[in-house]
Amino acid sequence: MQRDSHAQMQVSSDKSEVAATADEQDRLSPQTDAQKAKSLDELRAVLGDCRRCKLHAGRTHLVFGVGNPNARLMFVGEGPGRDEDLKGEPFVGRAGQLLTDIITKGMGLRREDVYIANVVKCRPPENRNPEPDEVDSCEPFLKKQIDLVRPEIIVALGKFAVQTLLRSKVPITRLRGNWHTYLGTKLMPTFHPAYLLRNPADKKLVWEDIKKVMKEMQGETA
Ligand code: URA
Repeated sequence: MQRDSHAQMQVSSDKSEVAATADEQDRLSPQTDAQKAKSLDELRAVLGDCRRCKLHAGRTHLVFGVGNPNARLMFVGEGPGRDEDLKGEPFVGRAGQLLTDIITKGMGLRREDVYIANVVKCRPPENRNPEPDEVDSCEPFLKKQIDLVRPEIIVALGKFAVQTLLRSKVPITRLRGNWHTYLGTKLMPTFHPAYLLRNPADKKLVWEDIKKVMKEMQGETA
């Protein structure tokens, strides 16, 4: 805080000193770095060989995100699992295949038409939930991905992604199927495909949520 007010006070008096202060801030704050990126490639470059949280220690690949940089629809999951960590691409394991089926067979889109990312970019050990400090380190990058892609709709997959993005403790069973907003973008929470693999009877609920998303997307172009 002190640094901010110090920098602001200098704006009116000495621009070069302000620039030096901003550079210093960039070195100290990944969030500021992320905010400056003008493309997804630049944002990926800012992440680099990321060591901002302890998850870096166990990863094979950082899993940034994949898909159309101008997608109208973005899916956000929790974090990479084993298959994703090995391949460096989100949602490529069994749950990923189910998500791909939802996109292709259900929505009639191609996987490369949408954008897919996760709340955290490195695999948590034993697929445990990401911890708050890990989310804090990584969320600025997801936020910037959303800002750069500018999707019309975000589909948040599963309790963790939904509760993190919505800053809510309300159970996903109550949140799913209803429209919410993430920083001005429409957000539809639904169950995670990995949950559906364990609870296939709930696929029909996800299909209801996805139909709402498709209707909204048709409305956007009509
Ligand atoms: N589960 C997720 O939340 N994300 C992935 O990329 C894969 C599985």
